Amino acid sequence: MSPWSIGRSIHGAPFFDRVVVDIGSRRVPSLLAGSGAPLLLLHGYPLDATMWLPAMAHLAQHFLCIAPDLRGFGDAAEERFSFTLNDLAADCLKLLDRLTIGQPIILCGLSMGGYIAMEFMEHFGDRARAAILTNTKGTVDEPAARANRIAVAARVLIDGTEQTVAPMLSKLIGRTGMDSNPAMVQCVRDMMVRTRPSTVAWAQLAMAQRSDSLSRMLGWSQPVLCISGDEDQLTPPNETARMARQLANGTVATIERAGHLSPIEQPQTFARIVAAFVVDVDR
Ligand code: MLT
Repeated sequence: MSPWSIGRSIHGAPFFDRVVVDIGSRRVPSLLAGSGAPLLLLHGYPLDATMWLPAMAHLAQHFLCIAPDLRGFGDAAEERFSFTLNDLAADCLKLLDRLTIGQPIILCGLSMGGYIAMEFMEHFGDRARAAILTNTKGTVDEPAARANRIAVAARVLIDGTEQTVAPMLSKLIGRTGMDSNPAMVQCVRDMMVRTRPSTVAWAQLAMAQRSDSLSRMLGWSQPVLCISGDEDQLTPPNETARMARQLANGTVATIERAGHLSPIEQPQTFARIVAAFVVDVDR
């Protein structure tokens, strides 16, 4: 484990458990930490559950944090079959059932994890009492972006992960992190290049197929916090604010000196914003 990739709390002691949860059709490696209201944390692409550890070190003081490795990512077994984002949302529901978490959760997803959170809200919304959509968007891809995903899915099987995804790094991390935190940059890079080519391909195809969530969000009654980073090139603050305005009960927050990976780049601020949001929800 790298110095950044944690394993110890802000007080220096290990603060999380790794568990493998059998959900019937597959096994879901997950990180668990803390106690209190359940907070399900869905990672982005091409990352894994460990992306949440910096923020979890703070969030675990308020919540029972549950961060699964989605199909094929991180420690999850190689995925032989294609999947949809809705399949991943259904895995999350089974995970909650197997962990016997019956009370409505707080759901938080970053980027691709946000797309999955939107599927979860649509299909299993009675299991979530609030949502945090961070560095993500509800719109579908433009035709060129969709075509690019299909091209990436084909190319990664020939060229491998590193060559395919490494150029994304400077789009994921904001300029502050790129300039000032080489350990964090290296950790994110390592996490990205560890992702199997087949997982990169299936995930790209799943994201290419997603449908527009903005119109579907109109039906949500739960409070939703939409977060972005002021250095996020992929889901900039104005797009995030537009998404929040679509919601019956949406609010927006922008994290300074953060790019597309705000929980990694500014974990303490991210956790403070999430905890304050939930205090408001409970008020
Ligand atoms: C992510 O961070 O999960 C990706 O940027 C999502 C995407 O490719 O749309």
